Amino acid sequence: MGMRRSLFQNILWLLPAEAAHNIRMALMGLVGKIPTGKWWLRLCHAPRRENLEREVFGIHFRNPIGVAAGFDPNGDRLNELAATGFGFVEIGSVVPRPQPGTPRPRLHRMRSIDSLIDNSGYPSLGLEYVLNNVRERSSYTSNLVIGCNIGRLTASHAEDTVKEYLRVFRNMYQYVDFFVINAACNTASKRYVPRTREELLALLEPLFEFRRGQLDYRPILLKISPDLTNEEIDTVVDVLIETPLDGIEAVAGSLDMATEHKGALTGAKLTKRAIEVVRYIANKTEHNYPIIGSGGMMEAEDVRRMMEAGASLVALNTGIRENGLRLLKRAAKEIANIKRE
Ligand SMILES: Cc1cc2nc3c(=O)[nH]c(=O)nc-3n(C[C@H](O)[C@H](O)[C@H](O)COP(=O)(O)O)c2cc1C
Repeated sequence: MGMRRSLFQNILWLLPAEAAHNIRMALMGLVGKIPTGKWWLRLCHAPRRENLEREVFGIHFRNPIGVAAGFDPNGDRLNELAATGFGFVEIGSVVPRPQPGTPRPRLHRMRSIDSLIDNSGYPSLGLEYVLNNVRERSSYTSNLVIGCNIGRLTASHAEDTVKEYLRVFRNMYQYVDFFVINAACNTASKRYVPRTREELLALLEPLFEFRRGQLDYRPILLKISPDLTNEEIDTVVDVLIETPLDGIEAVAGSLDMATEHKGALTGAKLTKRAIEVVRYIANKTEHNYPIIGSGGMMEAEDVRRMMEAGASLVALNTGIRENGLRLLKRAAKEIANIKRE
């Protein structure tokens, strides 16, 4: 059962996937600039139910549906995405210096399987640029929670990686509400994927250490690849239980499932694995730790299944790109009736 696309979405669907997204984001920017634009965005898209509010890792979310990293990587559309009604925006991956990413075409649409293969390698305008955007978040964004996903520079040397994550973390600390540390691999360079306990701790400990000295507490989550084995997921769960890590985001795109092109597979073909990983972690942790579900939520029903599997929040990307913003309202309606304790 496919979701009916709007006329606008059908037009976007005829264009190359990256261009289609850029057009959507540019139009959102234009709409945001006209006087009644944000009101209009809210009228068209924002969920209107009251029982969607959530309290997760000490933060109040007006609803649990957000956009995942890679959707608004530089935080250019925070006000518009707030008006649209998302519960949170995960900006990033933010990297310390600007990087162009892989040459195009780098985002392949796999029409027959309703999926994308992303080989963009975290194109980013860099920390300074993103900082300016989050510093300027206007009063309108006050009801939008902002997460900052930190990723690895393609050109980074393994020995610098930890320092570079820390640098972004420190600089963004006072401007965002929570952090997601991307431990999945940068599609443009596979040299560094922390998998062992030692590697994970080496990445996370400096962040915990910095946070200990701050007045405000910012939750830190770890985002994992769907390609991890159960033993590797167990290691992540141990780290979650034994350290001040606040939660897990599962999952990023799959390198192993991307057979047609180099890159990370996202979208419908990832749904089953993404939900499976979330369920596995939720069961292992007896539903005691927050999980952000990500991966393959193309329709409202997928969002409900992800939440029923144990996700406290969900982060959308390919579903919005390919099926349009109407997924937000539909998903909100679908989950409004899920029972919560
Ligand atoms: C074009 C594109 C760019 C992405 N960029 C990032 C990124 O910079 N950092 C990150 O952690 N995940 C990134 N992702 C992964 C998404 O955040 C998400 O975890 C993944 O796409 C699975 O969700 P989906 O199937 O709903 O797209 C990107 C995905 C796509 C399609």
